[in-house]
Amino acid sequence: MSAADPSAAAPAGAPLELPPLGFGAAQLGNLYRATTDEEADGAVRAAWDAGIRYFDTAPHYGIGTSERRLGQRLAGYPREEYLVSTKVGRLLLPGPGTGDDLANAFAVPDDHVREWDYSEAGVRRSHAESLERLGLDRVDILFAHDPEEGPTEQAFTEGLPALARMREEGLARAVGVGSKDADVLTRAIRTGLIDLVMLSGRYTLLEQDAADELLTACVDHGVGIVAVSVFNSGLLARHRVADDATYEYAQAPSEMIARARELADIAERHGVTLPDLAVQFPLRHPAVRSVVLGMRTAEQVRSNAGRMGVEIPAAAWEDVQRTEDAVRSGDAGSTEGAGITGSAEGADGAR
Ligand SMILES: NC(=O)c1ccc[n+]([C@@H]2O[C@H](COP(=O)([O-])OP(=O)(O)OC[C@H]3O[C@@H](n4cnc5c(N)ncnc54)[C@H](OP(=O)(O)O)[C@@H]3O)[C@@H](O)[C@H]2O)c1
Repeated sequence: MSAADPSAAAPAGAPLELPPLGFGAAQLGNLYRATTDEEADGAVRAAWDAGIRYFDTAPHYGIGTSERRLGQRLAGYPREEYLVSTKVGRLLLPGPGTGDDLANAFAVPDDHVREWDYSEAGVRRSHAESLERLGLDRVDILFAHDPEEGPTEQAFTEGLPALARMREEGLARAVGVGSKDADVLTRAIRTGLIDLVMLSGRYTLLEQDAADELLTACVDHGVGIVAVSVFNSGLLARHRVADDATYEYAQAPSEMIARARELADIAERHGVTLPDLAVQFPLRHPAVRSVVLGMRTAEQVRSNAGRMGVEIPAAAWEDVQRTEDAVRSGDAGSTEGAGITGSAEGADGAR
C-alpha cells in the first residue's frame, strides 16, 4: 500500500488525492458493542504505524463519541500528514441520558439525540460542532450523511449547495454524500456540486448490480468513490464463510452465503483469501479512490493493512469476473469454466 502524501500541494481544481486504505471510525463510536479505550488507542496507533493517513468519522457514530475519540487519538500526529472526513445532516442535541443508543446501533448512553437539519445554517453548525468534538481547526472532506433517511429534498436543495459553498470558502477540500442508496448518490453526482461519494455496501466483491448507473455517472462527472462496508457487514471478512454469517447486519440469505463461498474457493485456489479479494476488489474500478474499512482493534488494522498489500494473481480476478458474469446472466452452471471444483456444500464441508 502506498499512502499518498496529503500535504503535497495539489494544483487548483485537481481532485483531492486519497490513500487507497482509510480507517472507518464508526467502531470507535461503539457500533453494535463497546470498543474499549485501550482498543481504540491500539487501533489508531496501529493505523498510523501501518501508514494509514485517512480517517472517516461522523456525528452519528456514537452521538459524538467517534469524533471525540478519534480527535483525541490523532492529536499527537502532525495535522498536515493526514486527512479526515466527517459528515453533516444530523445535529446532536441534549438527550435524556437515562438509557442507551442501541436502537440506533451504538452502545453509548443516550445523552444526546440526533435531529435532521440540512439547512445551510444546520450544515454549518454541524461542521463547527464536529471541529469542536474532533479538536481540529479543519476537516478535509464533508459528506452529507444518509440523505435518503432524512429530509432528502432539503438535502438536495439546501444541504448540497451549502457544502459546495463551504468548499469554495476553503472550509473543506472536497464535499460529497455518504449513503448505501446508489440512486440517491447518482442523483447527487448529477447535481455537479460534489467531488466524492462514500458508497456503502453496493460495490463489493459480492455485490455490484446496484452500482452500474452510479459508476457511469462517477466517470462522466469526474466524481470519486470511497467504497465502504466492503465486507458486506461480515460476510466477506473471514477466510471461510460461516453458516450464520451476516449481511446488512442480519442473517445472510443462503444464496449469498453460497456465492461468498464460491468466491472464497476462488481465493483459496489462487493462494489468497476471501478478505484479501474483498478489500482490493473495489480499487480495480477507476472511479474508486479509496476503501475505508471499519476497524476496532490493532489486530484488525494490521491484518487489513496486510491484505491491501497482498499480490492477487490476475487469474484470480479473471475467475471472479467469469463467475460474476455467470451470476448476472443467471447461468450459475457456467462457473465450472472458471475451474470451480467444490459446490457450496463441498466448501462448507472443507471448513
Ligand atoms: N452512509 C455512510 O456514509 C457509511 C455507511 C457505512 C459505513 N461508513 C464508514 O465506513 C466504515 C466501514 O464500514 P462498516 O463498518 O460498515 O463495514 P466494514 O468495513 O465492511 O466492516 C467492519 C467490521 O468488519 C470486521 N472486521 C474488520 N476488519 C476485520 C479483520 N481484520 N478480521 C475480522 N473482522 C474484521 C469488524 O467486525 P467487529 O466489529 O465484529 O469486530 C468491523 O466492525 C465505517 O466505520 C464508517 O466510517 C459510512
